[in-house]
Amino acid sequence: MQTQVGIVGAGPAGLLLSHLLHLRGIESIVIDSRSRAEIESTIRAGVLEQGTVDLLTDAGLGSRLAREAIFHRGIYLRFGGCTHHVDMEALTGGKRVTIYPQHEVLKDLIAARLEAGGEIRFGVTSTSVHGIEERPSIRFRHEDRDHGIECDFIAGCDGSHGVCRSAIPSNLISRHERVYPFGWFGVLVEAPPSSDELVYASHPRGFALLSTRSPTLQRLYLQCNPYDRIEDWPDDRVWEELHARTVADDWTLMEGPITQKLVVGMRSYVGEPMQHGRLFLAGDAAHVVPPTGAKGLNLAVSDVRVLSQALDRFYRAGTREGLEAYSATCLPRVWKAQRFSWWMTTLLHRGEGDTSFDERRRLAELEYVVSSRHALASLAENYVGLPFDDNPA
Ligand code: PHB
Repeated sequence: MQTQVGIVGAGPAGLLLSHLLHLRGIESIVIDSRSRAEIESTIRAGVLEQGTVDLLTDAGLGSRLAREAIFHRGIYLRFGGCTHHVDMEALTGGKRVTIYPQHEVLKDLIAARLEAGGEIRFGVTSTSVHGIEERPSIRFRHEDRDHGIECDFIAGCDGSHGVCRSAIPSNLISRHERVYPFGWFGVLVEAPPSSDELVYASHPRGFALLSTRSPTLQRLYLQCNPYDRIEDWPDDRVWEELHARTVADDWTLMEGPITQKLVVGMRSYVGEPMQHGRLFLAGDAAHVVPPTGAKGLNLAVSDVRVLSQALDRFYRAGTREGLEAYSATCLPRVWKAQRFSWWMTTLLHRGEGDTSFDERRRLAELEYVVSSRHALASLAENYVGLPFDDNPA
């Protein structure tokens, strides 16, 4: 097989890149080890920045989103028994928080690619990438046969455990990492929402988050030990902790059947640079954020926005500057999202070995945030998404 851009990974980064390239007349082939059903049903994050919504809409992917997404003005911060509304829309001059689950974005992308005759190979095995300095190719097995894709460039969109990240020689990449001493225990609950907007609760027993997927399905998280297993959290314990950590006056937590449980690890990671030769990493293959700021999907989108523009310049005008500057163009935004995700995480979670001093200091910071217009504006500006400050031509 032959194509212009070989894309490893049919997640948000890979599929959106393939779609954006198609709009510019550039061919690509996408491969993924997962089945289409698995990709379309795995429930992940759900918060889109305004810039992500605008980009998807401009790329012709916004019609179901406009009909089915849930739009919030802001979020609630809850601590010390009080609830504080952060009105992001007012604080940012009209930007909103959009709740549209990642797997719905993926369904829209897969449908758009297949409708346009795009090639996506699901369920491939034994993927490997070669010749990234000169003549790139991707090898894989699909339906009991070996295949190869010869391409001009490879986009590594295969996440933090994929093969592309490790294809860059380790002496050429600087890795910056922080592992948090806690995780999130996530549940899906068949119930109506308990709140009209997301609730981020900080409590001496730990953090809790009330998020939503639809009017009948809620996503709730509890700070947990990162080594906890599903069996450590029977339903009774989940509800007891959720009630204790989100307690407030005039408010009731809506219960319902728990239909899914999972443990989410918390890590911050950036590998620099995000490219080598003709291999370009995007999304989780290049960087990982803890989920607190809901930035993962949004960063993947901003990476492929830059990469698609650079590839467009290459194929239209033969100039390589955009490609050469890919990593340097993406990294300032990546690091700002890293800073924000780290800040929200440490602000809201009980740290390992925290003393009463740490607890009081964290409470003082929360009180400062909700009482200072400046701090609220900073939280809102980062949460709804910083403007794209790069200018890829
Ligand atoms: C989610 O709905 O999964 C979610 C929402 C907000 C976050 C993180 C995750 O900050």
